[in-house]
Amino acid sequence: MAHRCIVLVLLVLGVWVFGATARAIEDMSMRVKFDQWIIEYGRFYNDAAEKEKRFQIFKDNYEYIESFNKAGKYSYSLSLNNFADMTDDEVDLSHPCAEGNSERQKSTTGSFRYADVNDIPDEINWVTKGAVTNAKNQGKCGSCTAFSAVAAIEGITQIKTGNLNPLSAQQIVDCDTSGLGCNGGWLSNAFNYVINNGGIASEVNYTYKGVAGACQANETLYLTASINGYEFVPPNNETALMQAVANQPVSISICGRGKNFKRYGGGLFEGPCDDCVSHAMTVVGYGTYYDDYDNEYWLLKNSYGERWGDNGFMYIKRNVETFDRGLCSLAHEPVYPTK
Ligand SMILES: *[C@@H]1O[C@H](CO)[C@@H](O)[C@H](O)[C@H]1NC(C)=O
Ligand SMILES: *[C@@H]1O[C@H](CO)[C@@H](O)[C@H](O)[C@H]1NC(C)=O
Ligand SMILES: *[C@@H]1O[C@H](CO)[C@@H](O)[C@H](O)[C@H]1NC(C)=O
Repeated sequence: MAHRCIVLVLLVLGVWVFGATARAIEDMSMRVKFDQWIIEYGRFYNDAAEKEKRFQIFKDNYEYIESFNKAGKYSYSLSLNNFADMTDDEVDLSHPCAEGNSERQKSTTGSFRYADVNDIPDEINWVTKGAVTNAKNQGKCGSCTAFSAVAAIEGITQIKTGNLNPLSAQQIVDCDTSGLGCNGGWLSNAFNYVINNGGIASEVNYTYKGVAGACQANETLYLTASINGYEFVPPNNETALMQAVANQPVSISICGRGKNFKRYGGGLFEGPCDDCVSHAMTVVGYGTYYDDYDNEYWLLKNSYGERWGDNGFMYIKRNVETFDRGLCSLAHEPVYPTK
């Protein structure tokens, strides 16, 4: 009897050791992945405790992303990006783009010059038309509205003049006193600043720093582009948004709070998404995937770097019937500069 007992003990011990070893190997390979990610993204942690904390978050994100992609239930994938060592709340807190006070934008609603444009193409892509610069990275600064406004100004400038020049988001962060520096801002105010300032400098002449600083716009600053005004697209109307985007890239507010939104890695984004206004992006095209579902999409430019999404861009479902405001509220308050 004693003999058997020992065998059993050994067996249990064996299974336990095997399990523990498997877990240790798994843990080790996850740590290798984390170290590779740290090198790729140039992360630096102050101490071992911080690194361990970041490792646990990385591991959670990695496992979530892997199981999401394996399940293959959605028309998009997720990827380990710049946010892989951050929780969702941390991403929201470090990118405080909230356009909380959206009334401030709508109070100036006026004319919509594209209302009567009925001859609009089935698809348009301002990227391939050469009116869009590469996706920028706002870093840990709530400058999404500055980047969105700049992308829309770059677009209308290229359409009107033929010149495509990356423009200065930093100038808006530093100089638009109605904005909140790195703590958010309003698209219409960003356009107002550029109108009142008589123009905006190029990125090379007023480079992005990712922190709010003193305004460097003075007589010596060369203003590369200018606009005359801005107009709102009628709210919650994706047909009207199409009329506008057929003519130029358009700035939008959007709900960027969802977990999958932050970790989007390409494909057609279809939510889940809330109705909120927490982020700004720029619509730079639309079209239809002529597949089994004939899914209609918007093409959006983001400011989370080129390794987010599809080279920094996102395909998101257009005309989703269950969302009056457009998926992720994207059609809630679109606005574009005029020239
Ligand atoms: C959407 O906007 C267009 C003008 O661009 C207008 O003709 C149409 O009536 C609007 N639709 C709704 C539902 O308000
Ligand atoms: C940068 O500024 C200089 C003048 O300081 C100007 O000549 C040049 O055209 C500017 N570059 C761009 C790309 O706007
Ligand atoms: C004017 O702006 C330039 C950068 O564009 C800066 O180097 C210079 O210090 C500014 N001058 C003043 C007087 O603020």
